[in-house]
Amino acid sequence: MTIEPSPKLDFSRFPRRVLLEGPTPIQHLPRLSAGLRGVNVFVKRDDLNGLGGGGNKLRKLEFLIGEALAGGADTIITVGARQSNHARLTAAAAARVGLKCELVLTRAVPRFDADYVDNGNILLDGLFDAHVHDLPGSANALQFAEDRAVELRTQGRNVYVCPLGGSSPVGCLGYADCAVEIIAQSKAMGVSFDRIVVPNGSGGMQGGLVAGLVSSGLEPSLVAGFAVYGPAGQARSITLDKANQTAQLIDPNLRVDSSAISIDESQLGQGYGIPTDAMRAAVRLLASTEGLLIDPVYGGKAFAGLLESVRSGNYRAGHNILFVMTGGLPGLFAYRSEF
Ligand SMILES: Cc1ncc(COP(=O)(O)O)c(C=O)c1O
Repeated sequence: MTIEPSPKLDFSRFPRRVLLEGPTPIQHLPRLSAGLRGVNVFVKRDDLNGLGGGGNKLRKLEFLIGEALAGGADTIITVGARQSNHARLTAAAAARVGLKCELVLTRAVPRFDADYVDNGNILLDGLFDAHVHDLPGSANALQFAEDRAVELRTQGRNVYVCPLGGSSPVGCLGYADCAVEIIAQSKAMGVSFDRIVVPNGSGGMQGGLVAGLVSSGLEPSLVAGFAVYGPAGQARSITLDKANQTAQLIDPNLRVDSSAISIDESQLGQGYGIPTDAMRAAVRLLASTEGLLIDPVYGGKAFAGLLESVRSGNYRAGHNILFVMTGGLPGLFAYRSEF
């Protein structure tokens, strides 16, 4: 499919605190592509941004922190699993702008070895001086966060609560903006992408990209998500909601149709954060052919899905696939025993 130039979307009416240093590069992977029968794989390097070890959540955090500061917040609280990249980047962004940060992290992933419990993202959370609440896997983290916010407010603090994955409609604007960035880069490179492949966790990245494409009058089913958090049906309805809410923040007249949300659950394996053989092979292949690192929970499973789709003949020679590298490198250290 050809990506046409988009009408300029104006995000300037949304409060924003700049955390990125301009567009992230798109790179062609010639050695990897050579092994894929002429299908060209490109990567969008959203892992390459300068704050807190980098990763996709910084795009959302530009708008979330912007909203928090506009409301006079002095504290931000967010939720996630113990090795949450979103939590780590929220802590880093909070440090950068001078907000106090509390992280409500659950033991939702059944891993209890020292690497998972104490290394990787959680190590960095401590360096960013976040206050970590350690909850069992069954806990309702968002409820805990809301209750904690009430408690802090009674002490005079102004608290901003950020949902799972930073995927509120305001947060998803970061990926609507990224869609516009990809369109401009595609045009400048003279390359039209037949697919944009992403991991789908809380659905905000895919929902935001879809909203950005719809707002630009482009075909949103260009985005293919691989579910890593839950089954496809659940991921599809969450992502459709996020895409609609985000598109309507941009323009209240916009509607996203369910056919715009393409989600594949074939790489989920036994569930969120549980490794699969295909993930391990995909992480190794990208590292050993291109020197690039993806994480075991999100990028590794999505890239495994991309490889599987190519191998099963869903793409022809000359097709161009853009894989969004979302960061999460600290997760490799938390999953050391898998490699
Ligand atoms: C490294 C990484 N990639 C992808 C995602 C998925 O993004 P989303 O939650 O917006 O679907 C996440 C979410 O935490 C992540 O940490």
